[in-house]
Amino acid sequence: MTTQTTDQAPDMIQVTGLTHYYGPHPAIQDVNFGVRRGEILGFLGPNGAGKTTTMRILTGYMPPTRGKVTVDGYDIVEKSLEVRRKIGYLPETVPLYTDMTVTNYLRYMGTLRGMAPRAIKRRINDVIDVCRLEQYRKTFIGKLSKGFRQRVGIAQAIIHEPEVLVLDEPTIGIDPIQVVETRKLIQDLGKEQTVVLSSHILPEVSAICERVLIINEGRIVAEDTPSNLADRLQGMERMEIEIGGTVAEVLPVLRSVEGITDVSHRRSEDREIYTIQIRRGLDLRDEISRAVISSGWSLLSMQSVGMSLEDIFLRLTTHEEL
Ligand SMILES: Nc1ncnc2c1ncn2[C@@H]1O[C@H](COP(=O)(O)OP(=O)(O)OP(=O)(O)O)[C@@H](O)[C@H]1O
Ligand SMILES: [Mg+2]
Repeated sequence: MTTQTTDQAPDMIQVTGLTHYYGPHPAIQDVNFGVRRGEILGFLGPNGAGKTTTMRILTGYMPPTRGKVTVDGYDIVEKSLEVRRKIGYLPETVPLYTDMTVTNYLRYMGTLRGMAPRAIKRRINDVIDVCRLEQYRKTFIGKLSKGFRQRVGIAQAIIHEPEVLVLDEPTIGIDPIQVVETRKLIQDLGKEQTVVLSSHILPEVSAICERVLIINEGRIVAEDTPSNLADRLQGMERMEIEIGGTVAEVLPVLRSVEGITDVSHRRSEDREIYTIQIRRGLDLRDEISRAVISSGWSLLSMQSVGMSLEDIFLRLTTHEEL
């Protein structure tokens, strides 16, 4: 799946054929997507789906086994310094130094990123303001609540004024009031910056993001706006059918079967495969066979495919951990 841009500007992030193995097991496989400039993109998937793996690669913290990522045209492996300058990263577990005060920690992180002392001073004031940390400037990080620590994590991610922000589960484990505030903060940041955030909670990405990619078992399985995803959540099942017939003739016949909501087609090694979405609770195997055979085509195979989007959604909506 490749994302097409509607404007002329190339994507801020372009991911092609990304695959990563830890030992013999693929954590992500052939992941392709683009992120437009200024967009807030949600990366949604259940535990172990491959979100953190993808983000660690995007931010240049780990080279991929295969595939290519560019950020503003720079290859993340060949130009990792440039890429790191452009990206602010809130990792899944932020390495915060608990015996440093908020200000000292932010100064330290600015220095690590090669910023000049005067720029650091100015930016500390800015990020403390943006992340609403005024009262905690001199507080030791170890004394902060989880929600405020997360804000310090976001503050360090934006200290060097990156064009892109990558946030890995930014609201996990914080209380509901702080969740609302953190979501608002991310949306505000998203007005100026390109943001990619991950979550395993559907309402979270719906609240913040303009577009959502769903990742499951290391593969991107859907891409849509939050409202379209909500419509798709109405329920459906997915089947793959192989039919011996002319594609241009088969497509309209399948689409005319009552209860089929969507049909797509691909060719695989000279076989014509149709993926159909069926309204939840319907068993259309008879109807489909009859429609195919009465048209004079052969029905070569018919099977339910993997986890339906709905199954994934169920897992995503029932794992709210607030
Ligand atoms: N360092 C590692 N060594 C070996 N396997 C790993 C490592 N990190 C992740 N994995 C495996 O890779 C797969 C993807 O993990 P990843 O952490 O990217 O998922 P995730 O979507 O971020 O999950 P979560 O929602 O739990 O954070 C999982 O099967 C995980 O067990
Ligand atoms: Mg993760």
